[in-house]
Amino acid sequence: MNTVVYPGSFDPCTNGHLDIIARAARLFDRVVVAVLVNNAKTPLFSAEERVDLLTEALKDYDNVEVHSFSGLLVDFMKKVNANIIIKGIRALSDYEYEFQMALTNNALAPEIETLFIPASKDYMFLSSSLVKEVAKYGGTLTGLVPDCLISVINERCKER
Ligand code: PNS
Repeated sequence: MNTVVYPGSFDPCTNGHLDIIARAARLFDRVVVAVLVNNAKTPLFSAEERVDLLTEALKDYDNVEVHSFSGLLVDFMKKVNANIIIKGIRALSDYEYEFQMALTNNALAPEIETLFIPASKDYMFLSSSLVKEVAKYGGTLTGLVPDCLISVINERCKER
């Protein structure tokens, strides 16, 4: 079975993330979405909440699972028996950091490769930070995040 891991912060997940997951789910047998538990940042949603939001948004996919992880990504990859990392690339500016992470992961675990999927043109501009900013100032999230998550994201951004 060909398992790939799609890691990220997903705070919150956007339609851009979901587009990459949908495309990976067509290409591979099993897609594991890996939500980083990052204690250094103060996230909008806890890791458990981010897992729940992604699980809700991805409930129609039979071959997609959502987990959280802390520590090194390569260690999590071993736990789920995967050696391919999927990353989305929106613009050339993403590439430098993503390339650095891909080489670091490959240096830590040479059997692990990173595959880049270019963002769809509809989502090239989209990021979790932009979603939070739009919600904070009362803009519409329609088209930016899954419809089923709009109210929960709006409510959380209003509380902040
Ligand atoms: O959505 P993000 O914040 O760009 O995702 C970054 C992520 C989670 C892929 C990256 O920070 C990560 O893999 N962190 C785990 C720690 C790790 O393995 N670091 C070494 C390789 S960069």
